[in-house]
Amino acid sequence: TGPATVSPTGRPTGAGQADVAQGGAYLTNAQGTRLHDTDHSLKAGPRGPVLLQDHHLREKITHFDHERIPERVVHARGAAAHGVFRGYGTAARICKAAFLGEDVKTPVFVRFSTVLGSRGSADTVRDTRGFATKFYTSEGVFDLVGNNIPVFFIQDAIKFPDVIHAGKPHPDREIPQAQSAHDTFWDFVTLHSEATHHTLWNMSDRGIPRSYRMMEGFGVHTFRLVDAEGGTTLVKFHWKPRLGVHSQVWEEAQITGGVDPDFHRRDLADAIEAGAFPQWELGVQTFPDNPEQTFEGIDLLDPTKIVPEELAPVQPVGLLTLNANPSNYFAETEQVAFHTGHLVPGIDVTNDPLLQGRMFSYLDTQLTRLGGPNFAQLPVNRTHAPVNDMLRDGMHQTAVHRGVAPYRPNSLDGGCPFLAGADDGAYVEVPAEVAAGRKVREAPASFDDHFTQPRLFWLSMTPVEREHIVAAYTFELGKCYEQAVKERALKVLARIDTELCEQVATGLGLPAPAAEEPLADPAPSPALSQVGRTWPLD
Ligand code: HEM
Repeated sequence: TGPATVSPTGRPTGAGQADVAQGGAYLTNAQGTRLHDTDHSLKAGPRGPVLLQDHHLREKITHFDHERIPERVVHARGAAAHGVFRGYGTAARICKAAFLGEDVKTPVFVRFSTVLGSRGSADTVRDTRGFATKFYTSEGVFDLVGNNIPVFFIQDAIKFPDVIHAGKPHPDREIPQAQSAHDTFWDFVTLHSEATHHTLWNMSDRGIPRSYRMMEGFGVHTFRLVDAEGGTTLVKFHWKPRLGVHSQVWEEAQITGGVDPDFHRRDLADAIEAGAFPQWELGVQTFPDNPEQTFEGIDLLDPTKIVPEELAPVQPVGLLTLNANPSNYFAETEQVAFHTGHLVPGIDVTNDPLLQGRMFSYLDTQLTRLGGPNFAQLPVNRTHAPVNDMLRDGMHQTAVHRGVAPYRPNSLDGGCPFLAGADDGAYVEVPAEVAAGRKVREAPASFDDHFTQPRLFWLSMTPVEREHIVAAYTFELGKCYEQAVKERALKVLARIDTELCEQVATGLGLPAPAAEEPLADPAPSPALSQVGRTWPLD
């Protein structure tokens, strides 16, 4: 490897320590001094005590002692791959982002994950899966940090610590490692009826995917796209796998979980190594950016709601191909840092209160997880666009910044002329109206309906899918110790569907409660996995 070089932007590039191949004629210490022995400590004679002056011993063991970093507080277990995204150009009418342009190819890094298990947990457990994509676009990094389920457990980020505390292993016994089969999870999701929709998706076959290559991905929240003239459109992002959506059956998931806990990461790596590159189409559902931010009566700021594809077909805007495995799990998969705030011109956030909380949380957690504020300089996180920031110093600074005046305007380093041109190619937040109102801690009334869409989902299932859902609730609730939690769960099911409730009650050996409120009667039942191509963007 050659000496590290520094780009005009101050970021180290090229070889040196940034890209070290294993091998070579001799070993060195961290300073590059050649070693003659790395197998024996320096001792006072072959049988004597080890000498404190043995710096190589201390350096080797000290470095080893600090090899581990904190695992992610959620989504700790994951697998990732490099790839390329090719824009179709179909989004040009509604979005000015360069990477969506026709035939524009953008490098990407995608990390799939489970949510609740620790880093060493099994892949095939029943859980939501993360589907996070980093686009290294010519205009900066864009991260689409989504899941394989289109809705979320909660409507406001302030409850995120609560739902995760409930879903993680019990604080006393630290079990279960990665499943929803326990009292606190069911306690939470039955006390918070907004969690009903996501829970139902988890209990469906979507909770046990066959492969990362066969999962849909969803941005979940509604985002705001901006066109070249400043016009805006609200959208929901969807990833549609070319291989279709497939799941394991529960017995399979149990066996693979035991026989091969690395089933999903092995499947992804093996497929890529064999040249069977997985592909997904990125698509958008589009909605007019009206002041209410609703579509067909659905509140677009409520992350517990979908918009059925019959009402708003998913329109393809590009193709993702994963074509290379990471060279080093730690450097890439473990150190990658996604953030919903990594946006490029043409893409903005909305007031969804869950998304707003995420805008704070990711940077905050990464400061701890990645040891300070300079993790954007790690190779996997480094933008492919030129950087000229005024962020300086801090733990693990690897750039050698030149110049004396990291502030603007300045008259010493040539100032900062390009800011003078305002928004030409720059990221400018959409100057959306902010409704005047009282400061309140409350949700809008349009967030109140927690049962119409779960019922819609249940009614859209085939008989065999319903059987699987009943079996999943029965198995998972069967693991609860608290009778009251099971009984409350049955009351929730009674509000989704009488047959679902009765069958799970029978499985648990409990009486089925009657629905306390009339069942919502949604029209028409959506084919949720259908790929809509019928509503062209232009
Ligand atoms: C990590 C998705 C809600 C906090 C992740 C990851 C994904 C994800 C995919 C893994 C990223 C990776 O592979 O490194 C989502 C989705 C959400 C959601 C789709 C809702 C729609 C939230 C909320 C919060 C939150 C509400 C907090 C207020 C975190 C944190 C991490 C994380 C702290 C760990 C990040 C890291 O250590 O790098 N999330 N999340 N998430 N999420 Fe979320």
